[in-house]
Amino acid sequence: MTEERELRLKNDIIKKLKVYNQNHIIEHINRLNEKEKDVFLNNLTYLDIDLVFKLYSNFKNQNKEKGDFYITPAHVITLPKTEDELAFRDKAKRAGEKTIRENKVAVLIVAGGQGTRLGFEGPKGTFKISPVKGKSFFQLFSEQLIALSKKYSARIPLIIMTSEENDYDTRNFFYENDYFGLEKDRILFFKQGMLPSLTLSGDLILKGKYELATNPDGHGGSLKAIHESGILEKLISLGYSELFYCQIDNPLVKILDPVFLGYHILTGSEVSTKVVRRRNIEEKVGVYINLNGKDAIIEYSDMDKAYMEAVDEEGKIVYWAGNTAIHAFSLNFIKRLNDHGFALPYHRAKKKLEIEIMNSINETDVLKFETFVFDAIPFAKKACAVEVLREEEFSPVKNKEGVDSPETAQKDMILMFKKWLESAGARVNPDIKIEISPIYALDCQDFVKRFKGIGVIIDKDIYFGD
Ligand code: UD1
Repeated sequence: MTEERELRLKNDIIKKLKVYNQNHIIEHINRLNEKEKDVFLNNLTYLDIDLVFKLYSNFKNQNKEKGDFYITPAHVITLPKTEDELAFRDKAKRAGEKTIRENKVAVLIVAGGQGTRLGFEGPKGTFKISPVKGKSFFQLFSEQLIALSKKYSARIPLIIMTSEENDYDTRNFFYENDYFGLEKDRILFFKQGMLPSLTLSGDLILKGKYELATNPDGHGGSLKAIHESGILEKLISLGYSELFYCQIDNPLVKILDPVFLGYHILTGSEVSTKVVRRRNIEEKVGVYINLNGKDAIIEYSDMDKAYMEAVDEEGKIVYWAGNTAIHAFSLNFIKRLNDHGFALPYHRAKKKLEIEIMNSINETDVLKFETFVFDAIPFAKKACAVEVLREEEFSPVKNKEGVDSPETAQKDMILMFKKWLESAGARVNPDIKIEISPIYALDCQDFVKRFKGIGVIIDKDIYFGD
């Protein structure tokens, strides 16, 4: 940035702070010396102050009425049972494999979060999750990429979204671990945006001397930042057309999954989503539904109780399709979402923040604004939902203990690997730990082909490596 442009930007910030009556911030700036002032204002140049005040005012003046909405269960490609469905599944697999082989698919993992809820300091992706070797999420995903690249002789870019909070630590983790065997230039990192947090009465909040309190702009921010970072356009120019998307917190994700990609392609969808049957009416997952004639996901906390709890005469959950947060996007669709300013709506939420007031630290509620990636679905000309088996694909790690914790995820990994071993003819003691590296086998089919142990009894912890 030229010095002149930088000066203009900084003057603009002061003007904006005046327009939005943020006198406490201006007073703070006036108390700083020239160097400190420079640092403070420089930090503010990365934040969209206009946007956050616009959002605050929109939410404040928003009519509480939700307007007309009509919810029905969405059409979902369910697990194949009939001959036709099985044939379509095979066709999908071939289409997906062809797309991977032709170097048309890239992988995006959103990993902007910290492991705080797990009681763990550091990026969630560095958390050790595998049951025998204690490999991190990042290592498990990287190994899948290595195995997939080999299996399909493909160049598959691995794109990782970090945030201001964990970008350095994430890159460093990959560097220190020699990129887990992936070529360094195969991995692209970009940072998601940050937005200022506000007090409940709509004011900016100081965080120490040099910064405002901020929050990451939600995983929907990935669809904006991948464009702003130039990665989206670069991928398109290299001939890539689809993006496989997942969250860092689910160790069972089958990266790329040709069957899923195939359904996405054969149905001509711009965005596709894997769904699982909701465990019960209380499970904290988003719900894939049809809203006013369009596919959409509504977060469990935003969906009316009557819909969340609706069951049919047989007691089955009516809105059964739970969001796994695994998607496929067409790159041109993501581009279109950015064409005239970023299209996704913002959500407002309260979060706890520790603020220093009169030399003591107080926890207080503040407002944060963020976007959800699944809000892209209603913008698509065509969307598709595909049912998958929870035990093979979905065991997210959200909490330190209890449901959706490292313990449940490890249990699910072991159970899945046990099935693979049994499918290959082995007999397995139920109390042991099992881990199969993606490099050894990507799925049950691969495992059965490779493992030659019909009748073998496995009665102590076991690891299958490369
Ligand atoms: C999310 C979905 C929910 C879905 C569930 C599946 C939302 C609002 N809800 O719930 O519908 O059923 O996953 O597991 O998304 N992240 C970022 N940057 C951000 C925010 C999140 O990278 O600004 C990443 C985190 O690293 C995390 C993931 O997105 O891995 C999940 O985000 P979170 O806000 O925790 O949503 P969940 O409550 O897990």
